[in-house]
Amino acid sequence: MTVTMCQGVFGAEFQSPVLLASGTCGYGQEYADLIPLNQIGGIVTKAVSLEPRPGNPPHRVAETPEGMINAIGLENPGLAGFVGEKLPWLREHLSQAHVFVNVVGRSIGDFVEVVAGLDEEQGFLGYEINVSCPNVKGGTMFGTDKVALDELVTAIRAETERPLVVKLTPNVPDVGDYARICQDAGADGLSAINTFPGMVVDIDQRVPLIGNQSGGVSGPAILPMGVYATWRARQACTLPIMGIGGIRNATDAIQYILAGACLVQVGTASFVDPYAAMNVHEGIQKYLTENGIAQLSDLVGSLQTEEAPTPPAPSG
Ligand SMILES: Cc1cc2nc3c(=O)[nH]c(=O)nc-3n(C[C@H](O)[C@H](O)[C@H](O)COP(=O)(O)O)c2cc1C
Repeated sequence: MTVTMCQGVFGAEFQSPVLLASGTCGYGQEYADLIPLNQIGGIVTKAVSLEPRPGNPPHRVAETPEGMINAIGLENPGLAGFVGEKLPWLREHLSQAHVFVNVVGRSIGDFVEVVAGLDEEQGFLGYEINVSCPNVKGGTMFGTDKVALDELVTAIRAETERPLVVKLTPNVPDVGDYARICQDAGADGLSAINTFPGMVVDIDQRVPLIGNQSGGVSGPAILPMGVYATWRARQACTLPIMGIGGIRNATDAIQYILAGACLVQVGTASFVDPYAAMNVHEGIQKYLTENGIAQLSDLVGSLQTEEAPTPPAPSG
């Protein structure tokens, strides 16, 4: 049985619904010797800011129960460095896999300037706007302030006609509210979710293990939160969603797809097994074939639920 993966999402054909998540595959080239990138759906680059950023002091990563914590601090070569050093490789080597550029800034002007500086370039499909990084000062400022988020997305929308995807933070009372704001402000899609703020303590030194003191937690530990955020976003708006958080295998990915994601991103799992994204793709294909589902879109958001309840209070 031939199954059809993702057609017409963001105006493109995706040969696979599986992409590599921002910050976990560099700018593609770093992963090119490990897996055949042109066989996956695409990659989302490491963040690109207007000016180069050095990132945070070490330690920058540590293992946590069922996951990891990172405080890389959005280290990146800046807009000019990306255009001069990274984008040419992507343009030349990624013919089948789509590229989203993850964009970050400290102000609306920063974001807009990065998008304006990239928009005439070839070699990528669209933008993933990162308003949700918990390990730099102000990293979630736009993602947790409804007015600021609306202004930011509106301003970027005015600058580009390319697919504009906003990467949401789970660190809000209801992701659905923020999803709707993005849709109303003109976004084309959502990524859900970024990491959760966390801390690991070195009990011998009695200090935080991470140089930045706190960082973002990712990996299998956050899978249920990511699925839930995807489901809330799907109920609140009609935008296509890229589901992210803790995906290791097809079972994890299909949870996101049933909850409403039409694409998924694999992050931390690639550090354990660089082939994780390929395996997720094969597993989804097998699931579709075994269940007689001809196209992935028939599965997207097909979760059977009662009327959505009010989100639980944090104390449960
Ligand atoms: C080392 C590392 C660096 C990351 N850097 C970025 C980044 O630059 N921009 C971004 O939007 N997300 C970044 N993320 C978040 C991931 O893209 C993803 O949203 C998160 O890790 C959850 O997915 P996972 O559990 O599959 O890793 C980073 C994650 C890790 C582990």
